Amino acid sequence: MARDEKPRKVILVGDGAVGSTFAFSMVQQGIAEELGIIDIAKEHVEGDAIDLADATPWTSPKNIYAADYPDCKDADLVVITAGAPQKPGETRLDLVNKNLKILSSIVEPVVESGFQGIFLVVANPVDILTHATWKMSGFPKDRVIGSGTSLDTGRLQKVIAEMEHVDPRSVNAYMLGEHGDTEFPAWSYNNVGGVKVSDWVKAHGMDESKLEDIHKEVANMAYDIINKKGATFYGIGTASAMIAKAILNDEHRVLPLSVPMDGQYGLHDLHIGTPAVVGRKGLEQIIEMPLTDKEQELMTASADQLKKVMDKAFK
Ligand code: 2OP
Repeated sequence: MARDEKPRKVILVGDGAVGSTFAFSMVQQGIAEELGIIDIAKEHVEGDAIDLADATPWTSPKNIYAADYPDCKDADLVVITAGAPQKPGETRLDLVNKNLKILSSIVEPVVESGFQGIFLVVANPVDILTHATWKMSGFPKDRVIGSGTSLDTGRLQKVIAEMEHVDPRSVNAYMLGEHGDTEFPAWSYNNVGGVKVSDWVKAHGMDESKLEDIHKEVANMAYDIINKKGATFYGIGTASAMIAKAILNDEHRVLPLSVPMDGQYGLHDLHIGTPAVVGRKGLEQIIEMPLTDKEQELMTASADQLKKVMDKAFK
């Protein structure tokens, strides 16, 4: 980074398992020069900041500290992970009322600080909380982004890569829709080296139900992890750091994020997961993937589910 360049500053709100994993991922990858962490557990945040800073002699110089809302003023990015996590048997949508309350106690002081950067919302249900952050903050649409189906897409790439014995980074695939139970794979697009996964499955003597099995495995992965270890955080923490990097380094990267629908897929007035281009200025482009009739049906069903919950929660 050139000397005279302004250090990249991130404020993380929420220092729980997801937040601290995000922070550790940022330190490990040398993303941003300044990381302030806000959490109601003051003692814990101070300890975590010192502990994270202990990793910097072997990673990257970084100013890491326990922060407060006025520190958001000149931040480039505010990342919101604060919220109750799913308990075994709970869906992400079940968290909406308690996490909307927590969210409103965060967005207001961030905006009051004079923050002019970008919000990255990670807490669940992320599509609804991203939409709520946009409404509560009054920010332009391009400066409020949700982690969307970025983690789900990574999980899908991982499962397909294991099946086809390739590097997950060589799997071109997307999960679309809600980051939740109604998400779905874009099978008409998902491919390895240009060969559709659906064709690969057929060519290897498996029938269509294999695609359904993959869909279910990915959509249920969080429940499986939560049942086994109580929470998920490495996947979402790392995926969120990757999104933060794409924004801060002005990568103009295409990622499946929770972004505002303004007619795409015939949808309006909600945020939902679709490929989008992000960079230093936030959301640069929303990509409306060509969907089959079946995929469009699934996208509409996903949006309907989100809207049903939003209508009740925002009443
Ligand atoms: C996940 O998908 C729980 O949303 C979190 O891992």
